[in-house]
Amino acid sequence: MNFHVLTLFPEMVMQGLATSIIGRAMDKEIISLEAVNIRDYTTNKHKKVDDYTYGGGAGMLMQAQPVYDAWNAIAADIDEKGRKGRKTRVIYVTPQGRTFQQSMAKELAKEEDLIFLCGHYEGVDERVLEEIVTDFISIGDYVLTGGELPAMVMIDAIARMVPGVLSNANSGETESFSNYLLEYPQYSRPGNWMGKKVPEVLLSGDHQKIEEWRLEQSLKKTKEIRPDLYEKWERENQAYFIRKA
Ligand code: ADE
Repeated sequence: MNFHVLTLFPEMVMQGLATSIIGRAMDKEIISLEAVNIRDYTTNKHKKVDDYTYGGGAGMLMQAQPVYDAWNAIAADIDEKGRKGRKTRVIYVTPQGRTFQQSMAKELAKEEDLIFLCGHYEGVDERVLEEIVTDFISIGDYVLTGGELPAMVMIDAIARMVPGVLSNANSGETESFSNYLLEYPQYSRPGNWMGKKVPEVLLSGDHQKIEEWRLEQSLKKTKEIRPDLYEKWERENQAYFIRKA
C-alpha cells in the first residue's frame, strides 16, 4: 500500500512515521510513504502558498493552484506506475469531516494508494477541495494547528491494518474497537510487583475460565469508561445476555 501526503512540512511526516512498526513495514516494502511539499509547486517568485480570504475574516487561506499542481504531480506519478492516479482517494484532514473510526481504517487499508491533503492556516480554497477531495475526515472534536498530525494518526491506524505490517496476524482483530469493547487488563512478570499480585485466574491454566474473566473485565471497563460503546456491544450481542440470565 502506498501513502502520499501533500504537506508544507514533509520532514515532519517522514520523520514522524519512519520509526518502529511503520518504519519496519516501509523497510520491508509492505507500505511506502512519500511526502510532497506543496510549496515546491508555487508559481510565484516568493514561494507563497497562502493569501487573504475573499469577504474578509481573520487568517490566511491555502491557495488552490499549488495544491492542485502538487496533487496533479502525484496522480501522474501513480498513473505512470500503471495504477489509477486520478481515481485514487484523496483525504482532506479537517475538523469539518466525518470522525475517523477503526472501521474506516480497516476499509481504507484495502486501497492500493491513498493521498492525504494537510491544511494549514485557516484552511484551503474551497474550489480545489471540490476538484480533488473524495473524503473529508477529522480525528476528533478539537482543533490542531495543521493537518500533519491527523494525517499521521490516520496513516498509522490504516497501515497496521495492512496484512503483514503487524507481526501477529491476529493482533489487529482481537483488540479494542474491532468488537466495540475496550481491552481487558494484561499482566507480565513478576507475579508480585510492589505487593500487587496478578489475578489468580490467569495462573490457573484453565483457558475457558481465562476467556470468561477477560470478557467480564472488558465489559466492566467498557461500561464504566465508554458507555456508548457498551450499549452498541449490548445491542449486537443480545444472545450473550440471554445465555447469562
Ligand atoms: N486539522 C486541525 N484539526 C484537525 C482535526 N481535529 N482532525 C483533522 N484535521 C484537523
